[in-house]
Amino acid sequence: MELQSVLYVSRSNIDFPKKAYLVGDLVRWSVSWNRRVGITGALAFTETHFSQYIEGPPQAISELVSKILCDDRHCNVDVIRIATTVDRTFQDWSLAFSGPDVFTGDYLRPLIERDLEDKAFTDQLADNWIRFLKEMAAATQTHI
Ligand SMILES: Cc1cc2nc3c(=O)[nH]c(=O)nc-3n(C[C@H](O)[C@H](O)[C@H](O)COP(=O)(O)O)c2cc1C
Repeated sequence: MELQSVLYVSRSNIDFPKKAYLVGDLVRWSVSWNRRVGITGALAFTETHFSQYIEGPPQAISELVSKILCDDRHCNVDVIRIATTVDRTFQDWSLAFSGPDVFTGDYLRPLIERDLEDKAFTDQLADNWIRFLKEMAAATQTHI
């Protein structure tokens, strides 16, 4: 079955660390919804930014992306890649979660600060970032 995947970065509107619990609420909700509709992926939070990679049935992905785009817990949603795929990268994770820690922030920064005109470099950064998310997910073994 053909799947769709989306990768984006966004600016967080969450007042961190005071309202850190909002991130937990978001992850808990997302895990249970994603499981229900066959979406898998990963979310990183770095005190100031979110980055999320999701993959799943095109209809479910497009409905979720519409909700995410108008969610006021973040802003400036910068969609880096929309792709079709047959194999899942995060098949064991409804939503692996990383953050906030220095490594996540350091790894994400080049993607946030990239030259928007340089498509080839953006692609390379996106591949590296997805690989980082996958390694993070595998290392924490939070199969959810
Ligand atoms: C950064 C970010 C990532 C999100 N990721 C997901 C997700 O993977 N799955 C999900 O169901 N909701 C996710 N949400 C929440 C949705 O935007 C939305 O609030 C949720 O689907 C409930 O929508 P509804 O009340 O309109 O049904 C995310 C929100 C933000 C801010």
